[in-house]
Amino acid sequence: MTYRKKLIDVSWEDFRELPVKEKTPFLMQPDGAPFHTLFAQQFDAALIDRLFTLANGIRAIAKTRAGTAFLRETICHKRAMLFFSQPSSRTFLSFLSACQILGLQTGEVRDTSTSSEFKGESREDSVRTFSSYFDLIIMRAPEKGLAEHMAWALSNSERPIPIINAGSGPDQHPTQALLDIYTLLRSFERTGGLRNRTIVMVGDLARGRTVRSLAQLLMGYPNIRQVFIAPPEFQIGQDILDLLRANNVETVVDDDLRKWIPEADAVYMTRIQDEWDKAKGESAKTDFSRFKFGLPELALLKPTGVIMHPLPRRDEISTDVDHDPRAMYWRQMRNGMWMRAALIAMTFGCEGRILDYFRANY
Ligand code: CP
Repeated sequence: MTYRKKLIDVSWEDFRELPVKEKTPFLMQPDGAPFHTLFAQQFDAALIDRLFTLANGIRAIAKTRAGTAFLRETICHKRAMLFFSQPSSRTFLSFLSACQILGLQTGEVRDTSTSSEFKGESREDSVRTFSSYFDLIIMRAPEKGLAEHMAWALSNSERPIPIINAGSGPDQHPTQALLDIYTLLRSFERTGGLRNRTIVMVGDLARGRTVRSLAQLLMGYPNIRQVFIAPPEFQIGQDILDLLRANNVETVVDDDLRKWIPEADAVYMTRIQDEWDKAKGESAKTDFSRFKFGLPELALLKPTGVIMHPLPRRDEISTDVDHDPRAMYWRQMRNGMWMRAALIAMTFGCEGRILDYFRANY
């Protein structure tokens, strides 16, 4: 990738219209680290490999008291704003924990009725206000493209601070995709790595932003077959299929989960995203009973296969499956904290310092 374009050199109207690939150079730092993290496509396999090494280093260092103290003073001179105008448990708490691990102090707005948006302030002005007090904004919003617009606006302000997209409408959830890839890389570390694999993604794929981001990140790994299992009305978007096929990724679109489980190296389950229903009860009209994973499905899974889920779940994975060693979703959640810590550390230029400490002490 070519880096070193500046968001101050392009108007918002021109930037907004660029394909994501052409936006990427505007979002990165000269050493290839992200400044703003907005899209999964900003991260190629080489950059994910750097994040993987850093996340593993941070998790190892954090195991000791001395290591924890070292990490806590790494970015203690910075402050992060967690601006979540949509509900979240995992993403919010794992970012909060990641900030605590690295010593960043944090502020938060989770309910815009308690901020001046209630008095009519625009979201743009709210974010500009946060940038007066903080050095990083981590934001989740129901509006597609808001994080992107804010990144452009802040880069053109007197205080250009980074933005991390923690979920933007039904479109992107790049840090979830990073932790999903981290989980896959760790799961297959001793069995040949993330190559020549079949990844089966199941559920509401039309409105699941985690799957959209993950599908795009998986493009960076060799010979990954992506199988999309969903009711026809909730299948993965044609834009994603077109992108994957244009990049010679083998794709399968089907509605038969049991047929594909024996082929799967990973089964990635997702819930119905009925918060995006256009009409009340829209999702309830679809029979999702064939898109659930219980003991009969577990019996079909390879001994080396893994079951993942971005969570929260409803009933699409039976709790009977939870104690099977192939159930990866609890570890996946904790992996998010280490991966997000690695992303924040890299954003603030602390990668080398942390890896030096790791090499000197482990
Ligand atoms: N996976 C995920 O984004 O969970 P939350 O909505 O709880 O943050």
